[in-house]
Amino acid sequence: YEVAWDAEAADKGGWSSFMAKEITEQPDAVGNTIRGRVVDGAVEIPELTELGDDRLREIDRIIIIACGTASYAGMIGAYAIEQWARIPVEVQLSHEFRYRDPILTDGTLLISVSQSGETMDTLMAVKYAIERGVTTVSVCNTQSATIPRESDAAVYTHAGPEVAVASTKAFVAQITALYLIGLHLGRVRGTLAADAQASAVAALDALPAQVAEAVDTHEQIAQLAHWMADTRSVLFLGRHVGYPTALEGALKLKEIAYIHAEGFAAGELKHGPIALIDHGQPVFVLVPSPRTAPVMHSKVVSNIQEIRARGARVIAIVEKGDTSVLPYADDVIRIPLTDTLFEPLLQVIPLQWFALELSTAKGLDVDQPRNLAKSVTVE
Ligand code: G6P
Repeated sequence: YEVAWDAEAADKGGWSSFMAKEITEQPDAVGNTIRGRVVDGAVEIPELTELGDDRLREIDRIIIIACGTASYAGMIGAYAIEQWARIPVEVQLSHEFRYRDPILTDGTLLISVSQSGETMDTLMAVKYAIERGVTTVSVCNTQSATIPRESDAAVYTHAGPEVAVASTKAFVAQITALYLIGLHLGRVRGTLAADAQASAVAALDALPAQVAEAVDTHEQIAQLAHWMADTRSVLFLGRHVGYPTALEGALKLKEIAYIHAEGFAAGELKHGPIALIDHGQPVFVLVPSPRTAPVMHSKVVSNIQEIRARGARVIAIVEKGDTSVLPYADDVIRIPLTDTLFEPLLQVIPLQWFALELSTAKGLDVDQPRNLAKSVTVE
């Protein structure tokens, strides 16, 4: 078995797990997904151009469907598409979609998000939409998988093969692809102001290097996880795009560390979840930038004060230079400065490391957690 082991170790690039390797590949996953799709300062996705600009201008509603991690990428993408293309977007879990007798009109665009392109629930939802004449776009990481083949257009993510069951690099690539779709639609429809386009393209340019910086939080997170190896429950709070990021942080922990975890919208705290807070309860808080979202920032800082007063152990993820939480946070993790919409692509990375390190600390199989499959091809 020497040989097999060597071969596997080689595939992991010297890392102890595929997940660790895939977390470190995120700068390339993002960079390769953007490559070739920004031309002269504007986003142009050839596969969408082929659908015809008139068809894209007629869209009056977008439904994003996906399962698991891909659904959180969809939730994050919805904020960006609405902001740039001014089209109402709703996100539905693939397995819920058909059963609500969805309202599908000529102006509906269905965007599916799937790493594998084979998730049966998502495929069935896509087929349901196709049968009703809806235009379908697939965001997929696997060339020629069933879902992109069935769809009118495929916007591939170029994260490379993802082996670990818990999705990491595919997630950031999915968000990136959805943002590119939002920028493309906004340009074609004339809803994207020149300055908004310029700042989004600048943020995209900076992203791979910033993602690499976020990957460098590994050592700090490993120490944190070391001290928290006995933790039985972890909460995650975020606002706006930080909310689905919080949901993803919680999902990672459930999937590979088998720890009870929940993500909440920070504003929802006072409507229930704050009752969960008692002494020593770990809470990760995704703090929006005070520069680009000052109002949201101050509200999240208030949330931190509220939970801290009730004994929470606060781990704050903030942008570099934001010292406002220092008096109330037990741990502060710093990420590079970007626009609010781009924060999830950086904030999620320490959360991925945290799940991986807790899983490792508990002696679990990081890449192949119990009861889960990489691709669920049954309904
Ligand atoms: C499974 C995997 C998840 C993944 C989900 C959707 O549950 O374990 O990691 O997020 O399927 O997969 P897809 O291939 O459609 O993105």
